[in-house]
Amino acid sequence: MSTILSIDGLRKTFSQGFIPRRKEILKGISFAVSEGEIFGYLGPNGSGKTTTIKCVLGLIFPDAGRIELCGRPHLDPRSKEKVGFLPENPYFYDYLTAREFLDFYGQLFRLAPDVRRERIPALLKLVDMERAADLSLRKFSRGMLQRIGLAQALINEPSLVVLDEPLGGLDPIGRKEIRDIILRLRSEGKTVVLSSHILQDIEMICDRVAILVDGRILSQGRLTDLVSEKILFTEIVLSGVGDRELAALGEPLSAQAGRTLLKVYDEARIQAVLDLVRDRKGNVHSLLPRTQTLEDLFVGMVRPR
Ligand SMILES: Nc1ncnc2c1ncn2[C@@H]1O[C@H](COP(=O)(O)OP(=O)(O)OP(=O)(O)O)[C@@H](O)[C@H]1O
Ligand SMILES: [Mg+2]
Repeated sequence: MSTILSIDGLRKTFSQGFIPRRKEILKGISFAVSEGEIFGYLGPNGSGKTTTIKCVLGLIFPDAGRIELCGRPHLDPRSKEKVGFLPENPYFYDYLTAREFLDFYGQLFRLAPDVRRERIPALLKLVDMERAADLSLRKFSRGMLQRIGLAQALINEPSLVVLDEPLGGLDPIGRKEIRDIILRLRSEGKTVVLSSHILQDIEMICDRVAILVDGRILSQGRLTDLVSEKILFTEIVLSGVGDRELAALGEPLSAQAGRTLLKVYDEARIQAVLDLVRDRKGNVHSLLPRTQTLEDLFVGMVRPR
């Protein structure tokens, strides 16, 4: 599969503070995104996600490193002809309607009037905003604005769509809707790069991820490779056995309504727990093996060392 975006050794320093001091925000970042995948750029607040994205789009200039977009150096204007972008905090002109807003961006891309007339209704349909097409943006909710922002990012029929925190500030239904649109974009053959600090969303839709912590990429790859399938422990909810007896086999946790949550770290001990419960005429209410999640990996990396 061919590479649509590659970043190699990217460094960026900013001057910060009242008495300006230079602080290195990106400390040599490298990763590549293949055509047709959904790539998640994951990292805590302030780790440098937006800074990376701004460098990619040529909005700010890196101190060092190479970036290639759609097979060209990123400062070549032709490299961005097939790129769409949704910024972290998009600015919406309040008094335009959704349709006028998209038309304005269509004009910026020099799309002919008949192309705009055809494409704008199709985009409004894609983001399910047809009914709000002629409503002014100041009447839009955050989720509606996010959807119109996404439609704007698609106005030039991009092959690569870069979305900076597209799910930020949305409720669970809004998040699901945006996730579904992103999945649809992939099924149409587009490549999507999205940044987020919301792990579950990344886990649900991304093919590959890079995890950025304090300006460095600590891990990258396919989710299935990063997150091990190994069972970390098994959670057993049971009743009828005293905590003291259970403590020999695992870690008894919360006891609610006579039930105990027991964490068993050694698989060989699960059978012993079940035997004990049967022997004491107790009950097993649930038994859940816990494999590692992206969250475990992320929290382990982000925790101050
Ligand atoms: N123009 C600037 N001048 C000085 N410092 C900056 C500038 N832009 C960003 N920074 C700093 O760079 C660091 C990384 O910021 P960035 O916005 O890239 O983080 P982020 O990963 O996108 O975070 P978030 O999840 O909050 O969006 C922060 O410490 C920020 O204060
Ligand atoms: Mg950001």
